[in-house]
Amino acid sequence: MNVMKELRRRVASALADMIDNPQPFAEMVKPAQDAQFGDYQANCAMPLAGQLKQKPREIAEQIVAKLDVEDLCEPPDIASPGFINFKLKEDWILSQGQVLITDDKLGVETPDSARTVVVDFSSPNVAKPMHVGHLRSTVLGDALCRILRFRGIHVYSDNHIGDWGTQFGMIIYGYKNFLNKTAYQNNQVPELSRLYRLVNQLSDYHAARNSLPQLEEQLEQQQEILESKRSELDMSDKKARKELGKLEAAVNSTKEKIDSTASKITALEADAELKSLADRDPEIAKNARLETAKLHQGDKENTELWNQFLPACLEMLHQMYARLDVQFDMELGESYYQPMLADVVESLKAKGLASESDGAMCVFMEGNAAPFLVQKQDGAFTYATTDLATIRYRIEELKADEILYVVDARQAEHFKLLFETSHRWGFDQADLRHISFGTILGEDKRPFKTRSGDTVGLESLIDEAVEQSRKIVDETDDSKPNGPELDESTRQQVAEAVGIGGIKYADLRHNRDSDYVFSWDKMLSKDGDTATYIQYAHARICGIFRKGEINRESVQNDGNPLMISAPEERALLMQILRFGEAIETVCEDYRPNVLTQYLFELSNLFSSFYARCIVLKEENKNLRASRLHLCDLTARTLQTGLSLLGIETPEQM
Ligand code: ARG
Repeated sequence: MNVMKELRRRVASALADMIDNPQPFAEMVKPAQDAQFGDYQANCAMPLAGQLKQKPREIAEQIVAKLDVEDLCEPPDIASPGFINFKLKEDWILSQGQVLITDDKLGVETPDSARTVVVDFSSPNVAKPMHVGHLRSTVLGDALCRILRFRGIHVYSDNHIGDWGTQFGMIIYGYKNFLNKTAYQNNQVPELSRLYRLVNQLSDYHAARNSLPQLEEQLEQQQEILESKRSELDMSDKKARKELGKLEAAVNSTKEKIDSTASKITALEADAELKSLADRDPEIAKNARLETAKLHQGDKENTELWNQFLPACLEMLHQMYARLDVQFDMELGESYYQPMLADVVESLKAKGLASESDGAMCVFMEGNAAPFLVQKQDGAFTYATTDLATIRYRIEELKADEILYVVDARQAEHFKLLFETSHRWGFDQADLRHISFGTILGEDKRPFKTRSGDTVGLESLIDEAVEQSRKIVDETDDSKPNGPELDESTRQQVAEAVGIGGIKYADLRHNRDSDYVFSWDKMLSKDGDTATYIQYAHARICGIFRKGEINRESVQNDGNPLMISAPEERALLMQILRFGEAIETVCEDYRPNVLTQYLFELSNLFSSFYARCIVLKEENKNLRASRLHLCDLTARTLQTGLSLLGIETPEQM
């Protein structure tokens, strides 16, 4: 049961003979800001006042007169200027709670119409180890798949891996020129990523060397202009000073560029071995691109190498996914769509959508300066072409009603053009949505890097999380009043759950649109909005049952009624009843932070309940039985909620 939705339905029908389109006004039923006013609040009388040319209070009175909520609420109250407050009846809360006791879905409803949703997430470019930049898409996408499935929606989780891009040309080039055979035989993937990094580094070096003279020339010109302006302009004039300031800034920025370019060059040249590798081929970038082109044209040797590299690269990814407990239904990478690309371009041309521009094929869009490039001058197809083929496949073969792209906000422009092109192309049957997200930052508020400036590898990040969690788990267990309870292997398992859960939760609890600062302390804190806190709340409840030697299943089937004897019990039960609402709200705009917030609040309410209400030692048998139900319902909701975020809940911590 989604209580808020039910109230909205009732408000909509009360509004039906007052206005034409009641829905948006009914949506203004929200949880009450302050519990003293009730459980929910409708704010629609204020915006309706203008439309109906009446006072908000009068409108609120009319709505209340028409409202049929007697079965669930106390008579609604009107507060100035026209807020309608709803307080749910205790009987109703209890009867709804009673239903949840035997409901595995904890009140989460399946939508009326069947839907197939493809979730495109994680999707790393292979041949590079996964790094922190892959975390958000992986964690967010996995949570969304779990939540949608729990609601009974048909989901395809698809890892649209980048297995056909320019990085393969770089690796092939590296393999042909710089391979360390022994290293490769011992362990393929680290050697491949070394080759990738090396070719990248050498290409950057030559690019830097090539750009330096140009930058210096630019600086000279800028300085000349600056000097002449300085003598020419009247410095008492504000505008002139501003112009000069701009010129100075430009000079400084070029100087900075020159410095960083020069230091890149010096750094590489300081390493004699690297320098001699670099000297072998100043055209390395171009030659690596040629290797990619050869692969794409079906060159035998390069195709063989690609077939040799790919399984090892995938294996490395799969190990990471296993550790993160992330599953995919399919892993149709970019290479899968290659045979379809020529036809995509033909079809776009036939429909008059793609046209030639400077030898390339482009889709031009009104109001958009940059066109959507579907085939380059050299004949190569692009990321965009592949994505168009993918949409066609997902709609025609997978019968997708909706496709979610869980991808970095920096690709917003790509998705905007992609969606528009695919609509015009005739693939407008599915809702296409970019589930965009911000960047993970370091404490310095810049994209999260290691101290030496490299990207943070995902594996080392997880290892560190588990290591730090292990310390917390040890300390907590060692300081238990009756001595430690956990054996070595349990401690390690708990540390994995806390460490990995901590990383996932820290990511999911932020509004996905915002950037956030990665902080170990905040992430693993035992009190605060963290996975650890919620996991401890859950384990604590399991501990109550363990201590009382009470079997939870038999509690679930004992048929004892729920009771409310204290406000903390009401507040806790009310929150438990709102699980369905939280899950549906997550799905409105695919925001799992709604669920983390809900679980955090539930843990807090449990704490207040447990501080006030004794459970095992309660003498009134009926009250004790009811409280055990509340404990069990809370634990089940916490466990289910965290599992929908991909986070484990150990029974003992
Ligand atoms: N491989 C791409 C990248 O790393 C992300 C792919 C996202 N999915 C898609 N269908 N474009 O940037």
